[in-house]
Amino acid sequence: MNENVTVVILAAGLGTRMKSNRAKVLHEAGGDTLLNQIIRAAEHVAPHERIVAVIGHQADQVRQSVPFAGVQFAEQREQKGTAHAVLCARDTASTGNGLVLILNGDGPLLRHETLSRLIALTDSDSLAGALLTTELADPAGYGRILRDEQGLVAAIIEQRAASPQQLAINEVNPGVYCFRAAPFWSALEAVQPNNPAGEYYLTDVVEILRRKGHKIASLPVPDATELLGINTRVELATADTILRARKARDLMLSGITIQNPDTVSIDVMVEVGQDSLIEANVHLRGKTRIGAGCRIGTGSVLRDCEIADNVTVLPYVVAEASRIGAHASIGPFSRLRLHAEAEEATHIGNFVELKKTRFGRGSKAQHLAYLGDATIGAGVNIGAGTITCNYDGMKKHATCIGDGVFVGSNSTLVAPLEIAEGAYVAAGSVITKPVPADALSIGRAYQVDKPGWAKRRRESATTASDKTGPRP
Ligand code: UD1
Ligand code: CA
Repeated sequence: MNENVTVVILAAGLGTRMKSNRAKVLHEAGGDTLLNQIIRAAEHVAPHERIVAVIGHQADQVRQSVPFAGVQFAEQREQKGTAHAVLCARDTASTGNGLVLILNGDGPLLRHETLSRLIALTDSDSLAGALLTTELADPAGYGRILRDEQGLVAAIIEQRAASPQQLAINEVNPGVYCFRAAPFWSALEAVQPNNPAGEYYLTDVVEILRRKGHKIASLPVPDATELLGINTRVELATADTILRARKARDLMLSGITIQNPDTVSIDVMVEVGQDSLIEANVHLRGKTRIGAGCRIGTGSVLRDCEIADNVTVLPYVVAEASRIGAHASIGPFSRLRLHAEAEEATHIGNFVELKKTRFGRGSKAQHLAYLGDATIGAGVNIGAGTITCNYDGMKKHATCIGDGVFVGSNSTLVAPLEIAEGAYVAAGSVITKPVPADALSIGRAYQVDKPGWAKRRRESATTASDKTGPRP
């Protein structure tokens, strides 16, 4: 990391073509905001303290959306153009005699390797600056690159100011520049809004520096997708697809098997351990971390989950902010939410929901249960149809189940409730009082058998009326 690089990210614009109430840089691609994605590239070339985002539209929301401690903000209250935006960052960006790297807040696909190359190029020669360029079949809307006889960049001409010959140039300015601080800041101050838009154009510094005898070089980027700027929701979707494809590829290259990688959707912050297998149509969101040797079944959606090693997630599990211990088996069709915690070697089966519940080591709930606000010990068996009645219409109450408890099928556990270790709850019970350790608790009406009753009923129905006939 070059300690002398300060990064300025332009993010003050509204983004009219997004047709949104939200500032453009708050829209998400690859599982995070456009601004956070570009900060992620920038943090490879500068520490957070030397990254300055210029914000304007919805400044407070934008500030709050950035989770990286140390990142700086500068406010541009009125959008007078890109040169004016960078000037607003001048006091925040203490650049000394280092380099200033300027990025667009709406370019989430830029790779940090490309930034490093641009910095190295600017650093190497007797250059005042360097910028990325790329060739586009349709360069409409972009600033065009004008070159001198030696092939150096002479100027950038904006679409609105360009002559018909200049409009035919395919080499464009993607808006990523690196300048030597001292000459740059003085050139920036010299920029005038003498163009049809009446804006302060950052692109004018190239010509100003040239007039003072400085050299500006360029770094052509062959893969133009890296430079895609987001202006519409269509481009947002394209960027999202590209970021997720890159993520899946990175994971595969790091030793994770992904079936039908085009169908999975993995946010950029997700981590997966070696030799895990991700089946088709899996969505991994937020800060989900999956250990080594896991299998994540098709259709599962996991957000902000922590999954230890060798866990099997069967198809169609939906889980949020939950933890699953090593060697556990979850699913199919299980739901874990609000800090559910399934410890090591647990089994959670179909149509079982855990909410704010700790499920102890080796315990099992194989079918059809709701376990909410519960602390469940080790080696517990929860029968099919068990429900913790945790809500009385006003408040939530806790259920505590000790180690080795057996809860029979279709039990209703009315909280607050404690079932001490080793106890046994008979199937079909409604349990409202504490159950002592090692007791059998039966909370249901006893069965009464009336011999011959059904047969007599059928016969009396036949004689009473031919129309009604016997009922089954
Ligand atoms: C700019 C470049 C153009 C380049 C294109 C690449 C200038 C004059 N032109 O044009 O050569 O091809 O980017 O995408 O720089 N912004 C602010 N404050 C402002 C104005 C803009 O923060 O006052 C921010 C915007 O939010 C955006 C970025 O700067 O993130 C670029 O601004 P935009 O208006 O999109 O510039 P372009 O017209 O696209
Ligand atoms: Ca733009």
